[in-house]
Amino acid sequence: MPRAAVELFLESYSRPTITWDDLAWLRERTRLPIVLKGVLHPDDARRAVDHGVDGIVVSNHGGRQVDGAIGSMQALPAVLQAVGGRATVLLDRGIRGGADVFKALHVGAEAVLVGRAWAYGLAVAGSPGCAR
Ligand SMILES: Cc1cc2nc3c(=O)[nH]c(=O)nc-3n(C[C@H](O)[C@H](O)[C@H](O)COP(=O)(O)O)c2cc1C
Repeated sequence: MPRAAVELFLESYSRPTITWDDLAWLRERTRLPIVLKGVLHPDDARRAVDHGVDGIVVSNHGGRQVDGAIGSMQALPAVLQAVGGRATVLLDRGIRGGADVFKALHVGAEAVLVGRAWAYGLAVAGSPGCAR
């Protein structure tokens, strides 16, 4: 049973066969904004914009799956340059306080995403910890 549960999770959660063609397929089917998460390389950013995405999330997904990936902040300047204003660029990963937000915005991100910080605050001090 545990093995079956893991297999079901992997089947539904991750699809290693996904390609750029899937993005083109999606773009053809919706006029809703598409935001692509997990971009770290300027070539991928360029390609994503060429496929018509509206937004890019510069992210290593928290360094959880690919633990040797570079940091999102390191990748941000080159991605911004590659995108050249043709899509919204957001920064995800490692935002732990206001200073991190200001750095990301200063470098040129439109906004940041917060993954674990609120959960840490919640664990330590409940809802006030989360807000803080
Ligand atoms: C428990 C957990 C589950 C996550 N699940 C997903 C997911 O299903 N898809 C995804 O793109 N990122 C997932 N992430 C990554 C977050 O969306 C986000 O990229 C990451 O936490 C940002 O880094 P930070 O925690 O340093 O802010 C997950 C992160 C955590 C901690």
